[in-house]
Amino acid sequence: MASRTWHFLLALSLLSSAAYGQLSPSFYATSCPLLELTVRATMIAALLAERRMGASLLRLHFHDCFVQGCDGSILLDDVGSFVGEKTAFPNVNSVRGYEVIDRIKATVELVCPGVVSCADIVALAARDGTFLLGGPSWAVPLGRRDSTTASLAEANADLPGPTLNLDQLIRAFDKKQLTPRDLTALSGAHTIGFSQCQFFRDHIYNGTNIDPAFAALRRQTCPAAAPAGDANLAPFDAQTQLVFDNAYYRNLVAQRGLLHSDQELFNGGSQDALVRQYGSNPALFAADFVTAMIKMGNIAPLTGASGQIRRNCRVVNS
Ligand code: HEM
Ligand SMILES: *[C@@H]1O[C@H](CO)[C@@H](O)[C@H](O)[C@H]1NC(C)=O
Repeated sequence: MASRTWHFLLALSLLSSAAYGQLSPSFYATSCPLLELTVRATMIAALLAERRMGASLLRLHFHDCFVQGCDGSILLDDVGSFVGEKTAFPNVNSVRGYEVIDRIKATVELVCPGVVSCADIVALAARDGTFLLGGPSWAVPLGRRDSTTASLAEANADLPGPTLNLDQLIRAFDKKQLTPRDLTALSGAHTIGFSQCQFFRDHIYNGTNIDPAFAALRRQTCPAAAPAGDANLAPFDAQTQLVFDNAYYRNLVAQRGLLHSDQELFNGGSQDALVRQYGSNPALFAADFVTAMIKMGNIAPLTGASGQIRRNCRVVNS
């Protein structure tokens, strides 16, 4: 009796102390053994067509997880009276890759219909995008289910913007139980991809912590007077723009952060030392990035009987 109780308690504590909550990398091992191969193959095709898509899908996962948790809520279209997150300021005309998620979902539905959530597909696509652009790989904890709701208000409130200062960034991540170290590691995602001029204009014209030569270079394709050139793109990392490396941090040390929020991580504050470390130690960055991605991927997932497995990632099952 006592021993049975003890075993029960041990099992309970093992379950609840598992590093990734209720998610597990082997969640679909029997129900969809070809899942990861299917996602990978579709991602390779997508990146062959457009290499930037690896960056775009990494960002999509971030924007999913910071709003209601990693539940695929960002994928829901506005239809009829339903208002989703796609028109929120941080997402509209900015988040990309919805069609690639549709393609992966369609392919996965062919292999194992009705089994795999859109939220898990987004998490796998983010991992594959990172890896296929030369970054680290990791086993993605799986078993998320899809939301039946979305929140435009939470997307506007909780997704950090490029004008935030370090305190505000730390608070935005703390709200999702992510540490300042997670913030600095995850921001390394800005080693790949691009930003529109409208998000860094103020920084390159009015910023005080910016290399003058870098500011002059970026002004060439980002005119001062909005809305001219608002959507013009500049790479976050000019030298290796679609290679997932640690150059982002060396750029910050050289005052060549593209966004004001990027440069806030190296501006005489609490993250300076870590930025220098990541810039000189790629293995440390890779390890911390993986740890932080797994933490971010574990924000408030729907599991068990909560939510649903959407048939179409854009609409709630009827
Ligand atoms: C720390 C706060 C963050 C802020 C303020 C921020 C802001 C931005 C902005 C303004 C853009 C450009 C969007 C556009 O031009 O349409 C961008 C792009 C991007 N962000 Fe972030 N971001 C943050 C954190 C993250 C995190 C945590 C990740 C992923 C782990 C991430 C991944 C990316 C990627 C990969 C791109 C390039 C996307 C592409 O080229 O399509 N960002 N971010
Ligand atoms: C620079 O800052 C001033 C004062 O806040 C503002 O009026 C102006 O629009 C800013 N310039 C750019 C290019 O963002």
